[in-house]
Amino acid sequence: MTSAHGHDHHDGARSPGHLARDATPPELRRDSSDADATLADVGVVIVAAGSGNRVGGNELKQFRWVGGKPMLLHSVQTFQQRRDVAMVVCVLPKAFVGDPPPWLFQCDTDRLLISVGGRERTESVANGLEDLPDEVNIVLVHDAARPFVSSAMIDRVIAEARQGHGAVAALPVVDTLKEVDDDGRVVRTVERARLWRAQTPQGFPRDLIEQAHSRARAEHVVATDDAALFERLGLPVVVVRGSERAMKITDEDDFARADALFTVPE
Ligand code: CTP
Ligand code: MG
Repeated sequence: MTSAHGHDHHDGARSPGHLARDATPPELRRDSSDADATLADVGVVIVAAGSGNRVGGNELKQFRWVGGKPMLLHSVQTFQQRRDVAMVVCVLPKAFVGDPPPWLFQCDTDRLLISVGGRERTESVANGLEDLPDEVNIVLVHDAARPFVSSAMIDRVIAEARQGHGAVAALPVVDTLKEVDDDGRVVRTVERARLWRAQTPQGFPRDLIEQAHSRARAEHVVATDDAALFERLGLPVVVVRGSERAMKITDEDDFARADALFTVPE
């Protein structure tokens, strides 16, 4: 049975473990005699508390099916397949925290906590961080909107974070980049050689990412990723190779693209 600390700024994490333990398939249950379990020190915060405005529709994009199952379930299961993962914290919109989608209980509910999201992604991550259990030394932050993250990518991110710095899955930019004005007129061509597109997961030593988030909160800073909060404190961040399959599903067309990518071998 998992538990979480109480918090004054949000409702705290809920453990669904007691609700539906029988729903955990045997292959995802972790035996208490499993020696590796004692070494599990990676905590994963999956942010799934957005409202999906650019996709629209009635159902939240992170709960819609893609690649054969609900989007969020892909990443929860991918991270829980790892023995080094101690806990996955899913950050959900407030309305779903007390009543999460039933398919979520298909995962290892002993290693699942539900946290409540904030208005901005940065706040959602901060809430998830507060619910990580004590044994966590390495934190991975991941967007539910990127359902097809590979275990090789996760390995690379964790390996760099264990070196004591931030690590971002990313891909080099291949297109030529143009800066344009409001009328669509090209102002200049941007040097591309050193530009990378940041994806998730992003990995960090726990103490440093907690510091970066508490500074951001105190200074009312929000950012579109967590590495940016790290960088603004002058802390080192490296890129590791991401994957086209780890694309972010942002608008309606991306569902068809993602489904097509899912069938392509890695
Ligand atoms: N997210 C979150 N809390 C927020 C905003 C976003 O947890 N307040 C999460 C989303 O659920 C998503 C990830 O952050 O998994 C990346 O955000 P994005 O792709 O922008 O998703 P949405 O914010 O839901 O979409 P939109 O910006 O179109 O409304
Ligand atoms: Mg958004």
